[in-house]
Amino acid sequence: MDIIIQPDAIVASAMAAQVMAALIKRKPDAVLGLATGSTPLEFYRQLIRLHREEGLDFSRVTTFNLDEYVGLKPDHPASYHAFMHKHLFNHLNIPHEHIHLPDGLASDIPAHCAAYEEAIREAGGIDLQVLGLGTNGHIAFNEPMSSRASRTRCMKLSPQTRKDNASFFEHEEEMPHHAITMGIGTIMEGRECLMLAFGERKAPAVAAMVEGPVSIHVPASVLQRHPGVKAFIDEPAAGLLKKPNAHLSFNKA
Ligand code: GLP
Repeated sequence: MDIIIQPDAIVASAMAAQVMAALIKRKPDAVLGLATGSTPLEFYRQLIRLHREEGLDFSRVTTFNLDEYVGLKPDHPASYHAFMHKHLFNHLNIPHEHIHLPDGLASDIPAHCAAYEEAIREAGGIDLQVLGLGTNGHIAFNEPMSSRASRTRCMKLSPQTRKDNASFFEHEEEMPHHAITMGIGTIMEGRECLMLAFGERKAPAVAAMVEGPVSIHVPASVLQRHPGVKAFIDEPAAGLLKKPNAHLSFNKA
């Protein structure tokens, strides 16, 4: 894992956006895995800026989002469909049919999950997967105890995750108990990953992900075994790393 520690989330997000831009220039039909949450918002703003000001062309790109809440209509303001359109897709030139998110209203969830996996395979696999980090070390909605071999499936959300994400809902009780998420196995098949983690509240999870043992209790720790992960971390999120200088020596965004 390459650890790139930057003073703040804005600088780190701009650097991460450059990594994605370089891929799209090199491979205009790149397959991107995308994430939600507050963390990638500045990263998405940077992509929009690169599209508007520098002509970064997304017309041949295909996207697959990591996850979606079960039971929310796509137009529910807290759905990941709505989030992605509001913060990214409405501002880029990705053809509608190239955009994929799990369907939280699917009547046969296992069949839908299998079809989602198949669609990723048919697209040629994910070239670059964007990831955020849950405060309990989850990636996408793979909660602690998720199998490393797991594929896209329905996951019960932990109380911690429900609490962390409740602020996205107008009424907390609307927050779903389940989500469809790519599995750890699905994520690990991405050719490269961009992990973004910002803010002091992520510091314990960052330390466990980077310096802890690879453990089923910290799903993100498995990224230590992925050959192509760049983790962009701001200084507050890096605050509990025991050897931040050692990680800094790997800086090579
Ligand atoms: C949710 C998402 C994750 C995201 C996490 C962190 O659980 N499913 O993909 O990484 O939230 O959210 P935030 O970026 O708001 O801290």
